[in-house]
Amino acid sequence: MKLAIVGTGYVGLVTGVCLASIGHSVVCVDVDREKVAQLQGGRVPFFEPGLDELLQEQVHAKRLSFTIHHEAAFDQAEVIIIAVGTPQGIDGLPDLRALIEVARNIGRTVNHDVIVVIKSTVPVGTNHFLSQIIAEEQCHPVSIQMASNPEFLREGSAVYDTFHGDRIVIGAAGEGVANTLEALYRPLHIPFLHTDIRSAEMIKYASNAFLATKISFINEIANLCERLGATIEDVARGMGMDQRIGEKFLRAGIGYGGSCFPKDVKALMGMAELSDYTFQILQAVERVNRMQQLRLVEKAEKRLGDLRGQRIALLGLSFKPDTDDMREAPSLAIADALLKRGAQVVGYDPVSMENARNFLPAQIELCESAEQALEGVDAAFLLTEWIEFTMPVFALLLQRMKVSVVFDGRNCLDAPALARLGIEYHPIGRGIDAQLVTTSFQEKGREP
Ligand code: UDX
Repeated sequence: MKLAIVGTGYVGLVTGVCLASIGHSVVCVDVDREKVAQLQGGRVPFFEPGLDELLQEQVHAKRLSFTIHHEAAFDQAEVIIIAVGTPQGIDGLPDLRALIEVARNIGRTVNHDVIVVIKSTVPVGTNHFLSQIIAEEQCHPVSIQMASNPEFLREGSAVYDTFHGDRIVIGAAGEGVANTLEALYRPLHIPFLHTDIRSAEMIKYASNAFLATKISFINEIANLCERLGATIEDVARGMGMDQRIGEKFLRAGIGYGGSCFPKDVKALMGMAELSDYTFQILQAVERVNRMQQLRLVEKAEKRLGDLRGQRIALLGLSFKPDTDDMREAPSLAIADALLKRGAQVVGYDPVSMENARNFLPAQIELCESAEQALEGVDAAFLLTEWIEFTMPVFALLLQRMKVSVVFDGRNCLDAPALARLGIEYHPIGRGIDAQLVTTSFQEKGREP
């Protein structure tokens, strides 16, 4: 099938490369000249494991090309997939300007029958809205049919997720459109779900908001485990063995970040508000996430006292491992809180140093290695579970650098190993002193 993909961000580029690799002929179009030039040269402009090799292979096989010209991309396309960004607008709802521009271009340019697929995450009703814009601009008497086909890719494993997704959701009005899109994805052997367009749009938000809810829930359980002397990993394992709950997304830590969960939770609340409905659970999910991002700072204050002048290393700055993405990373809120308390903050990340420079305040000293960052610190905060930090040699590095206190926001370090090395370890959600709990209950006249 001949495809045009509009937008070469995470979603558009990964989708384009993967669809080319299953035999389709793909032209990716983007307004960013520099990015397109890089892609034409076989370079991926962001860090995504496995994408470079696959892209070069597909360009070489002449199934994948890049352009800045919409007309050229749309010229022979049977399907146009739109994957441009929908960043959070000032009202909390996604900013649809880029999408509207693409819809106008499609209306003006397309001179043959085509299916337009919206893959960008958009509020419920956006397909309908965009189809009106296309119709207003339409110059040629051709059939332009719309479909919603949300993506569920995770950064860092986006290529794997494209080939091993749990479902492909196709929201379309007519059977013909749905069948064409099913044929497009059939080689992936992933189950299809056909829905109406609005339901497909909602599935994306409901899924992300539910996962965010799971994270805030387990984080609150973790906070309670600390107080009641239980261990969050055991609790999560026990919960996850119940298939109705499921074991995934029950890792407690310093809250969720990234380009999707925070934005999509806000957008769903915004959609609710516009429908005169208050999404109460999501209000709490957001509140808990904000609070959770500061858990390590609270723990550090409790343990080290006034943080003024104390030197603290932040290890891992991206919002999660295997990505250089700093958007809504917990490290930003943590760095900010530490600076406000007068701490001296140093940071290191194995991959996202360039982005870190743009996202973090200038007062934060960025280092080239973990070793350099740990030099003379009063405490280290582990914020992203990069493999470099989870390997046993990392504990030895902490010892060599004379780090005496570690606050682990991802519970990824080996507690017994650190204890053996004489390093004080503060994870999340592991109650240490059950005696204190008993006393506290008894003081309130209750048996625990
Ligand atoms: C997410 C969705 O998973 C994906 O389906 C959607 O298309 C885009 O948003 P992504 O943002 O790339 O993907 O990352 P994900 O791996 O889902 O993690 C999101 C955040 O949740 C990260 O900050 C991560 O650290 C946090 N998280 C995840 C937890 O704190 N605990 C968990 O158990 C899982």
